Amino acid sequence: MAAISKEVQHRKPEYDIDPIFVNRWSPLAMSGEPLDEKDLMPLFEAARWAPSSYNNQSWRFIYAKRGTPAWERFFDLLWDGNKPWAKNAGAFVLIISKTTFDMNGKPSKTHSFDTGAAWENLALEGSRRGLAVHPMEGFDYDKAREACRIPDGYQVEAMIAIGGRAPKETLPPIMSMAIRPPSACTRPSEIRQAAQGIMVGAAPAAPPVTLA
Ligand SMILES: Cc1cc2nc3c(=O)[nH]c(=O)nc-3n(C[C@H](O)[C@H](O)[C@H](O)COP(=O)(O)O)c2cc1C
Repeated sequence: MAAISKEVQHRKPEYDIDPIFVNRWSPLAMSGEPLDEKDLMPLFEAARWAPSSYNNQSWRFIYAKRGTPAWERFFDLLWDGNKPWAKNAGAFVLIISKTTFDMNGKPSKTHSFDTGAAWENLALEGSRRGLAVHPMEGFDYDKAREACRIPDGYQVEAMIAIGGRAPKETLPPIMSMAIRPPSACTRPSEIRQAAQGIMVGAAPAAPPVTLA
């Protein structure tokens, strides 16, 4: 079993869990090297093994390799706060989910939930392989639908920037003002305790109820 890596030593698990969970984080610093199928396919393979309601496997991935017109098209979709670091991504992946069941065409309640499980598998495998795998909500969802020809019946979920790892010193200073607090730009985020967000039996009865 791999050990908890040095850069995440400040993230202390409260219980004995596999270090793969603690070692995954969302680095911003990327090397700018292109990635190709030999780098990306194992990540999609990991995603493939996620569980899904009625085994519907609702996740779909659309990828764009650095150095291709598609990469530029994906990059143009990003919010300005993501561009200064994501410009060094080796590939982008748009994650979408099919909103209905294959077996009967009825709406799936869990297409996003199942796709979230697949994304996490992908991220864990990428992290295990030493890649920076960074999820993003910070892009134009409507334009992504158009730019990537997403048909009706599929929901745009998120985008991922994937790249070779680079030293945090390579990040532009502006990063300290973008989206995340400065410390979180260059090192893994603090994560709240397990007990927050866990309840026994039911949500608390007395208002206000915030569930964590
Ligand atoms: C769906 C999703 C969307 C996110 N969007 C962005 C984003 O647009 N830009 C960004 O810098 N980080 C984004 N993040 C990264 C989160 O800020 C990060 O996962 C969180 O702070 C926990 O840190 P860690 O992933 O390093 O453990 C996103 C994460 C998720 C799961």
